[in-house]
Amino acid sequence: MSHVQVAPVTFEHHRKALGIGESTPRLSWVVRTELPDWRQAAYELEIGEWSSGRVDSAGSVLVAWDAPPLVSRERRSVRVRVWGEAAAEPSAWSEVAVVEAGLLSPGDWTAQLARPALPDDEEEPVVLLRREFTLDKPVARARLYATAQGVYEAELNGSRVGDHVLAPGWTSYSHRLRYQTYDVTDLLTEGVNALGAQLADGWFRGYIGFTGGRAYYGERTGLFAQLEVEHPDGSRTTVTTDGEWRSTAAPTTRAGIYSGETFDARRELPGWSSPGLDDAAWMPVELGSLDVGTLVAPDGPPVRRTQVVPAQAVTRSPSGRVLVDFGQNLVGRIRFALPDAPAGTEITVRHAEVLEHGELGTRPLRKARATDVVVLDGTGPREWEPRFTFHGFRYAEVEGWPGELTTADLEAVVVHTDLRPTGTFTCSDPDVTKLHENVVWGMRGNFVDVPTDCPQRDERLGWTGDLEAFVPTAAYLYDTAGMLRGWLADLAVEQLEDFDGIPPLYVPFLKLLPFPVSAEAGWGDAAVVVPWTLYERHGDAQLLADQWPSMTAWLDAFTSAAGPDLDFAGVPFMLGDWLDPIAPPDAPGAARTPWPLVATAYLARSARIMARAAAVLGRDGGEYAALAERVAERFRAEYVTAHGRVAYPAQTAYALALECDLLLPEQRAHAGRLLAEQVAADGWHIATGFLGTPFVADALVNAGAVAGAYELLLQRENPSWLYPVTMGATTVWERWDSMLPDGSINPGEMTSFNHYAYGAVADWLHRTVAGLAPAGPGYRTLRVAPRPGPGITSAATTHETPYGTASVSWTLEGSAFALDLVVPANSTAQVALPDGSEAFEVGSGRHRFERTVTPVAPVEKPQGFNWHPDED
Ligand code: BGC
Repeated sequence: MSHVQVAPVTFEHHRKALGIGESTPRLSWVVRTELPDWRQAAYELEIGEWSSGRVDSAGSVLVAWDAPPLVSRERRSVRVRVWGEAAAEPSAWSEVAVVEAGLLSPGDWTAQLARPALPDDEEEPVVLLRREFTLDKPVARARLYATAQGVYEAELNGSRVGDHVLAPGWTSYSHRLRYQTYDVTDLLTEGVNALGAQLADGWFRGYIGFTGGRAYYGERTGLFAQLEVEHPDGSRTTVTTDGEWRSTAAPTTRAGIYSGETFDARRELPGWSSPGLDDAAWMPVELGSLDVGTLVAPDGPPVRRTQVVPAQAVTRSPSGRVLVDFGQNLVGRIRFALPDAPAGTEITVRHAEVLEHGELGTRPLRKARATDVVVLDGTGPREWEPRFTFHGFRYAEVEGWPGELTTADLEAVVVHTDLRPTGTFTCSDPDVTKLHENVVWGMRGNFVDVPTDCPQRDERLGWTGDLEAFVPTAAYLYDTAGMLRGWLADLAVEQLEDFDGIPPLYVPFLKLLPFPVSAEAGWGDAAVVVPWTLYERHGDAQLLADQWPSMTAWLDAFTSAAGPDLDFAGVPFMLGDWLDPIAPPDAPGAARTPWPLVATAYLARSARIMARAAAVLGRDGGEYAALAERVAERFRAEYVTAHGRVAYPAQTAYALALECDLLLPEQRAHAGRLLAEQVAADGWHIATGFLGTPFVADALVNAGAVAGAYELLLQRENPSWLYPVTMGATTVWERWDSMLPDGSINPGEMTSFNHYAYGAVADWLHRTVAGLAPAGPGYRTLRVAPRPGPGITSAATTHETPYGTASVSWTLEGSAFALDLVVPANSTAQVALPDGSEAFEVGSGRHRFERTVTPVAPVEKPQGFNWHPDED
């Protein structure tokens, strides 16, 4: 058996390379070997008939090739073998990976948009569409290419096509509409077949946003499908949506993303997507127009069902209502077998994230009804789950269930973008481990096709600032590169074509607010920070090149908002350090650190990133480096004393001054001490909002205040990262105190129990507590530098880097420190151990280091001083 295995081979950032949009998808592979310090010297690619021959290169991530490009529908088998530096012989070939192109040019489409007649008695209708067709030859291979204005599920001959949820997802529809490719070979037969689809409003025509509006993209839904069947003789039959289709109202009489679904079992139409149904009473469709130039293949995986969570408890509320607890705040929907009960029996399921005073806490949902209704037909059990909605919930209130409801009757089905999990973290403190679990659940719930702010209320929008704060964490926990590449393409097209270079506050954008789109520090910075983070984590310089026009346009817009004196004098308001814990419930932007300071720091930071990105792309970044210096100078002139004291005694102000590199070398030590003092003066409570939170722990550690950082992390009183954990949270909250210590819900209008921004601290847990970070793009070089601090005696993390699995796990017993490290083949690690010795480099393989260290002493709290006089 070979000691060197190449697996798996992947294409671009796709989990599955069926129907992809790239004609020359770059290849990545992982080498697995027990040989220590393995480095690749060369590779050979076989792509269809073409071979690269031996190529002397260490590259194994996103490797470009120059075989003839794929044409539409083309399928090729690909395999790879490699030579290690010390090996004369190549490895065995990898397993064959198959790539198949989608429809790459607008001319490939012959389908027409089929618009169903919508029932006029329902605002949020669902319709069935169908047509029959005959195949007069056997089937060799068949693909369904489909999309919709609305959300759809297709069926062929009575069977569901694929397992996507809420296809085609939500993109900036007027510029980019995704189509899906399904392998339907096994669902067709020679002879008569039927193709059908259920179609609902979704994001296209449904109620979206907090202003109660709907139909932002159009008043009519439509299906656009092209079935291509290849026969053994090489000929092809194509069946598309066209004027032959018919439609009727579905048994699901209502479906809205926010509102939920109503299913009337009495209206079911058995065989609706099978041949032979008499559809004479169905209505003909109307043909609409769809710009095929907007059709794009997906960059990332679809939304799918990823987990089933059983009900944990069924109880009665003080007012006598039946409540189900799933034990986890999650995103998805509730599935159950329809109980045996008389026709017309109505079961209503309402969802909420929390209970308040023992009753379902629905106020935070605002206008989202989050209610599913089933009307039984009396014919007995079969499984039911809503299709075209999702809810954010831990609890459900069930009304009308015939007989006694038990936990065995219902289960929760978790849905989100089916990203590949890539990161884990645990440590000796169970509450911190739980915090990390909550971050993971928060991410799952908010990566439902679009990276959103929240998954439960009348919002669920792709707020740019939330992702800007969270993207380093997201990119560690899951492989987000494909999904976010698509989202960034939406951001860029809206920014550049619709808003003169300013990224809208949320992407996809809908005009919800009366005021114009304007440059917003932190939020707009997503245009720079997201691609840069993806470059750091995945080594994808092409992505950076693709986003370059968007990045530069944002920097221009941001700089012009700053004005000639770089002081934002002409800007009336920015969101700033949103949701500082002192912000009153009705004034979320009222922060200790005023927004102009925050905006100045963020401008300097983005300008510095631009200078680095320019260097990666071989461009001249001099103007950005110079801009960063001018902004930093302005920052110091406006906000910093000669010695390094910052104008606002606030954690965010100091953290940004230090971490955005805005101070002179001689000011840093003093500013670092003052930050530690500030955190102590805050009683080691967190005092940052969305824009300061990602920086404060790093700033403390980098300033030498390791003990202060751990004290802040391990704080359990409100406000802190662990306060929600002590309150039983299973996700990260929008506000530090979304639930108040007395168990009541924060009275603010904006109170979600599932927002990821504060979870940004997980990136610090990975990099600094456990100690695994990228030292070079794509983790080609790892930086392994844990900084143990008081209160935590062990930590462990793993990450699926582009080169393979890396892991770090350490323990500290007294002064005995031990660290186990796994470095993937073809990468190296720079190791800096906490004994203060010099950093050193190691090659791939397993390593163990044991050292005697001087443990960091806990912070000193003055004795005899009552830190919390109000709590006596
Ligand atoms: C969202 C945020 C968002 C903010 C900005 C809120 O309603 O939930 O997370 O970034 O608005 O205004």
